[in-house]
Amino acid sequence: MKMQLEDIANYFPTGIASGDAFINRFEERERLKRAILARQHTLLMAPRRYGKTSLLIRVAEEIGYPFCAMDLLPIHNEKSVTDIFVDTVGRLVMELLPPAQKAKETLLKIFKSMSPELTLSTMGQKLSLRMPDAPNNIANLFLHLDEVAVAFDKKAIVFIDEMQQIGFLETGRSIEALIRHAVERSKNITYCFSGSSRHLLKNMFGDSTRPLYRLCSMMEIGRISRDHYRPHLKNLSKERWGVAMSDELFDKLMQITEEHPFYINALCQNLWLEEHAPTIERIEIVWDRYVKDNRGIIVDEVLGLTLNQKNVLASLAHAPIKEVYSGKTMVSLKLTPASVHRVIDSLLERDLIYSDQNEAYTLLDPAIRYYFLNHSRLRL
Ligand SMILES: Nc1ncnc2c1ncn2[C@@H]1O[C@H](COP(=O)(O)OP(=O)(O)OP(=O)(O)O)[C@@H](O)[C@H]1O
Ligand SMILES: [Mg+2]
Repeated sequence: MKMQLEDIANYFPTGIASGDAFINRFEERERLKRAILARQHTLLMAPRRYGKTSLLIRVAEEIGYPFCAMDLLPIHNEKSVTDIFVDTVGRLVMELLPPAQKAKETLLKIFKSMSPELTLSTMGQKLSLRMPDAPNNIANLFLHLDEVAVAFDKKAIVFIDEMQQIGFLETGRSIEALIRHAVERSKNITYCFSGSSRHLLKNMFGDSTRPLYRLCSMMEIGRISRDHYRPHLKNLSKERWGVAMSDELFDKLMQITEEHPFYINALCQNLWLEEHAPTIERIEIVWDRYVKDNRGIIVDEVLGLTLNQKNVLASLAHAPIKEVYSGKTMVSLKLTPASVHRVIDSLLERDLIYSDQNEAYTLLDPAIRYYFLNHSRLRL
């Protein structure tokens, strides 16, 4: 049956990819699956919008373990962290519970220090908890969750996203220590951490002076290769317009989006809304319009940068630079070696650039590159 307009966003989601929209990641899925089954806690890292959350959710579904996902992006103090923890754990424990009344009594007993109450919300039954103002409450919450899992012989996954945010809190280090305490003692719960700042996460989990040092195995994911997109997009083109996409058009799509999973979906979503199958010119026009429509977000990322940072970014937008610290590069950038080091480090920290397989530095975001190259107001 021909693809309907209302289905298009399901095939090209700009949020979590699931069902038929999720492609490939076979190796990563297998690796993560094995790690979770072996209760090896994992830190999953990738640049923004490469597919971390989609992968974790897919793997949790494939394993069939109950899981909960918490996003720490909105946290601003310890109370906001515990609110998220309590709420999410309160839901997950209900999934671990067998139906018998006796099981509920066991649950209430395990959490007795946290004034447990079973409440019914729009999202189903949940255990409401009040955290006592005790220093080790966060550790106890996760330890109790594990106790419940052990009591009912269940395994589960806790996924904590945007974990780097804890590092910004005044009491961040003590929260990290409490999480470590619980995670290390966990028998039936596997923890997966993730976040959008690889630099901060590497510090958090890789610095020997930090509480979470070496708690997890590290896993990095890259882009999805074009070979996996080819049959997927050709097939979806057939479903939409009755014609398979030519290699030339497919290559254009990959070149323009630089195989970035988010931008492939964002561009395809707009292309697939069109009445007719795309042409090369149409791909260019739709991409240009997409970048212009989203310029607010793109400009935001670049606005706060110093002139030197913008200068280096503009150069990298034109071509990747292999020997970034060479004399020739310094001359062309008009910067001292010390400034180049500083600027490159700061752009890496902000995830605006990365070093590719050839160890050349290049821009991470194809829309920012396009903006630099085509909209002269930003060019320096
Ligand atoms: N396996 C996949 N197949 C197809 N598209 C995918 C896949 N994984 C992710 N995507 C797409 O990539 C984009 C980013 O996905 P997702 O939100 O999972 O990434 P993320 O790394 O968690 O992002 P963020 O850094 O914003 O948390 C979305 O458009 C999503 O639909
Ligand atoms: Mg995510």
